Amino acid sequence: MRTRPLKVALLGCGVVGSEVARIMTTHAADLAARIGAPVELAGVAVRRPDKVREGIDPALVTTDATALVKRGDIDVVVEVIGGIEPARTLITTAFAHGASVVSANKALIAQDGAALHAAADEHGRDLYYEAAVAGAIPLIRPLRESLAGDKVNRVLGIVNGTTNFILDAMDSTGAGYQEALDEATALGYAEADPTADVEAFDAAAKAAILAGIAFHTRVRLDDVYREGMTEVTAADFASAKEMGCTIKLLAICERAADGGSVTARVHPAMIPLSHPLANVREAYNAVFVESEAAGQLMFYGPGAGGSPTASAVLGDLVAVCRNRIGGATGPGESAYAALPVSPMGDVVTRYHISLDVADKPGVLAQVATVFAEHGVSIDTVRQSGKDGEASLVVVTHRASDAALGGTVEALRKLDTVRGVASIMRVEGE
Ligand code: NDP
Ligand code: HSE
Repeated sequence: MRTRPLKVALLGCGVVGSEVARIMTTHAADLAARIGAPVELAGVAVRRPDKVREGIDPALVTTDATALVKRGDIDVVVEVIGGIEPARTLITTAFAHGASVVSANKALIAQDGAALHAAADEHGRDLYYEAAVAGAIPLIRPLRESLAGDKVNRVLGIVNGTTNFILDAMDSTGAGYQEALDEATALGYAEADPTADVEAFDAAAKAAILAGIAFHTRVRLDDVYREGMTEVTAADFASAKEMGCTIKLLAICERAADGGSVTARVHPAMIPLSHPLANVREAYNAVFVESEAAGQLMFYGPGAGGSPTASAVLGDLVAVCRNRIGGATGPGESAYAALPVSPMGDVVTRYHISLDVADKPGVLAQVATVFAEHGVSIDTVRQSGKDGEASLVVVTHRASDAALGGTVEALRKLDTVRGVASIMRVEGE
């Protein structure tokens, strides 16, 4: 065992950072044995230096994160501040001053992963971010390393704990949206600005990261189709139940059947109650990976929260420290396939459309004609009416998003269609 400790700078000591520090302290002997050298917490950068932080030596606390990463004796920087700046500059400064980096920052990795990997390579250092996607669940390393010899065709799952917590509460207890969001925030699941969660920016960032690694292709945040879950209503849940489904916010990354392009999207979707994802409760996440040789793999576990996320950070810390002792670096970015990312219009799936229509003869035929004219085949229709008005629920067979979009546009123009109450994709069948 090497006696000279590896020095770690912790940037951020909030929900995740405080747990990273706690585990580093309480498991110090085990970590040293696993790494082959002791690991020392050399500094902790925060915004509010006077805040009481249990288990943290106040002498280590600083507000000057830049000076900390420039010290020159730091082996690994753990970035758990979040957001784009100052995190990005701190990470590139850390590489330039000889440190490897572990980060949980999906927003930054999704936006600037390529440049950060390039900076890590330039300085011969590691950039690891297992905690950036799906909290405690090992997903980045299995995709990047365990499946490096296989061909991944599809990644589908629940990758945001906060929204799963809210949707689960709305479905199972009838809780209101705001009440459930407040609880998820109090439990430390939500982002600093929970808009990132509920409008699915967080899930989109994770989808971009997953698609990039799975398909060996750069997938930018802008390439990911994104729809949040703020519009999901109790009526949608009731409608889903009637179909034997529930509603989840899904991230879906797919390789086209001809292998020549990929798509990435996040949106609420109905999934059958019999599907394993339907039973993912609270802030848990679950991700299916489908690959050519392995078939279907499922990864499941806590998707958010201080301690689960710290587990993933610590796993990276051990890996990066081992690399440092061995004078090596782990796998960097792999984007050699450079596949084009197709627009959402090319995605093919099923749809659940809820329409408010006039309850009179011929309306159903009119509606069915519009679907037929756009090449969208209807699977089932359910109608309930009262006082001259009716609610029509149409479930389609598989059709392209472009065809469905054209259908809905034409439906809105019919005099007999009072409104399109909701459109939801149906997945997992
Ligand atoms: P918190 O808001 O709880 O903590 C952020 C920390 O960063 C705080 O300690 C804060 O200081 C510090 N900080 C903020 N700005 C600065 C700055 N300019 N200089 C130095 N320190 C700064 O966030 P989380 O711990 O929840 O999240 C951290 C990262 O981990 C984010 O990227 C998030 O997306 C990611 N993540 C979070 C998960 C979760 O469940 N919470 C799960 C997976 C990933 P102070 O304490 O003084 O305010
Ligand atoms: N806010 C994120 C979530 C944290 O709820 O999933 C974990 O990445």
